[in-house]
Amino acid sequence: KTRLGIISALAEEQEGLIHAMTDAVRHTHGMRDYTAGKLWNMDTVAVLSRIGKVAAAMTAVTLVEKFGVTHIVFTGVAGSADRAVQVGDVVIAESLVQHDMDASPLFPRFEVPLTGLSHLPSDLELGSRLAHAATTFLEGENGATLHRGLIGSGDQFIHDGVRLAALKSALPGLLAVEMEGAAVAQVCFELGIPFAVIRTISDNANESAATDFMHFVKTVASRYAFGIIERFCRQ
Ligand code: ADE
Repeated sequence: KTRLGIISALAEEQEGLIHAMTDAVRHTHGMRDYTAGKLWNMDTVAVLSRIGKVAAAMTAVTLVEKFGVTHIVFTGVAGSADRAVQVGDVVIAESLVQHDMDASPLFPRFEVPLTGLSHLPSDLELGSRLAHAATTFLEGENGATLHRGLIGSGDQFIHDGVRLAALKSALPGLLAVEMEGAAVAQVCFELGIPFAVIRTISDNANESAATDFMHFVKTVASRYAFGIIERFCRQ
């Protein structure tokens, strides 16, 4: 039976969902609150991972091993890494890369050592269902569009055009940067759990990223997360 784990890094990205849950029961484990309950009839467990790859990995493992989730969706915000991807747009990962992974010359840059993979693929079916939910949601959001492709994750908030340009040239097709998705991808790959990552663009990963990010998270992020997950759970 399906049990969906929903991870976000920040409270603003999840507040509404927790309130919308019925039969909610909160469990605290490893300094995080896991809220189990029903979202529009779907059996779910929602949790805030906090920021970064280790935090996200710890959270994903716990969702699977302790709370028995069968699928994981990560929702949150990201910085744009492509001129066509604009603030307010949504990106669904087709694959994810840990852009700060570099064990060269032992292994190729970006490859997760001993997995043979640098680009970790997300689940096609979950991705399509999320894309459907996001498309419906975005019809009400003045010109915002949906993109699908490569997301890069690293333990760095990118706020520098030069740094971003270097990443883009090393990773062709990179659409967005964030700090958790590819860690969840590795955990789910290793545990055989289907997962997807959906991100709303909050900033352009340049010199104004920190201000843009804080403004967006405060004003817009929760509406997107709620609107998309609601449609996903109801379809
Ligand atoms: N999440 C949102 N914006 C980001 C950025 N510019 N860098 C890393 N993670 C982000």
